[in-house]
Amino acid sequence: MADLILSIESSCDDSSIALTDADSLKLVEHLKLSQESEHKVYGGVVPELASRLHAVALPKLLEKLKSRFNDIKAVAVTTHPGLSVSLHEGVIMAKALSVFLNVPIIGVNHLKGHIYSLFIEKEANLPLLALLASGGHTQLIKVENYDKMELLATTIDDSVGEAYDKVAKMLNLGYPGGPIIEKLAKEGDENAFNLPVPMQNSPLVAFSLSGLKNAVRLQIEALGGAQNMNRRQICDLSASFQKSVLKHLLQKSKKVFKKVPYKNFAIVGGVSANEYIKNGFKKLCKEFNKEFLEVQMQYTSDNAAMIGRWAAEAYRAKEFDTINTVKAGSTKKLETGNFLK
Ligand code: KG4
Ligand code: ZN
Repeated sequence: MADLILSIESSCDDSSIALTDADSLKLVEHLKLSQESEHKVYGGVVPELASRLHAVALPKLLEKLKSRFNDIKAVAVTTHPGLSVSLHEGVIMAKALSVFLNVPIIGVNHLKGHIYSLFIEKEANLPLLALLASGGHTQLIKVENYDKMELLATTIDDSVGEAYDKVAKMLNLGYPGGPIIEKLAKEGDENAFNLPVPMQNSPLVAFSLSGLKNAVRLQIEALGGAQNMNRRQICDLSASFQKSVLKHLLQKSKKVFKKVPYKNFAIVGGVSANEYIKNGFKKLCKEFNKEFLEVQMQYTSDNAAMIGRWAAEAYRAKEFDTINTVKAGSTKKLETGNFLK
């Protein structure tokens, strides 16, 4: 009989449930329903809608796993960070399951989950320096073990994914913007527009994307608005935007590379699907003689497999929560002094 962990992810617009074998780390089941098409019409995620869609999707996914209920030894759920009304749906389900199955509950930090997306179906390769780039975060994180992670740098305004989404919106391209901009950029000339590289003269090791986003806005206005731009101009602007984003990420990460001698480096989070950004970092890793660890494409966006994988570490360490301590949007662990906890 296997020791299975049932994990639930509902922090944003993906409803996902997985079963992970805590001993072998095998991903036994992984189910996901994306709400992308429902949010697309609004040009971004609408929290109330996301919450209602999770309430419909999660029970449907759970029903498919009924035959494995006897093997479930723990329930894991994303508690934070994320949209609180969305997180809430997963947390309610996890608590009810924990009571019904009489098994412990494990609250999971979504960001730690993204880091463990690197190690789905395998043992962790640590220590590691990670760049987490998603719709909500841009952070450089020193990862010592599953529970010991130190935040080294973060964004002072927009995240990278958010900047891609906003630029796509300004160009009337749709949501999510990341994959659309990346695709158009492939046809464009990255030197066509001279966009600024954020904070390049600042000694601060931090990220900032809102100035670049505004520079793109001004460029669109100078061209008479998105409706007056031709495909070539849209592709060129997308490519020039990506070039500045990558330069910024590389410049700031380089400073940390010089200070943190870890052999392993990885990009995790939704933006890690971007080939252009990945290739830039692969080159930097070569220069610094670092190993570039890659997330499998299907686990770059939000998913329950990564939540279950992190929870397998907590399960092995017998680190459990209780239904009273697990709360949606909980900052309980933030108070311990470690920003990422
Ligand atoms: O990690 P994720 O699925 O959700 C959050 O935790 O935020 O990341 C979603 C973000 C979105 O902003 C999306 O536009 C961005 O990741 N993204 C990309 C690409 N694919 C997704 N950004 C740049 N290039 C991509 N190929
Ligand atoms: Zn995420």
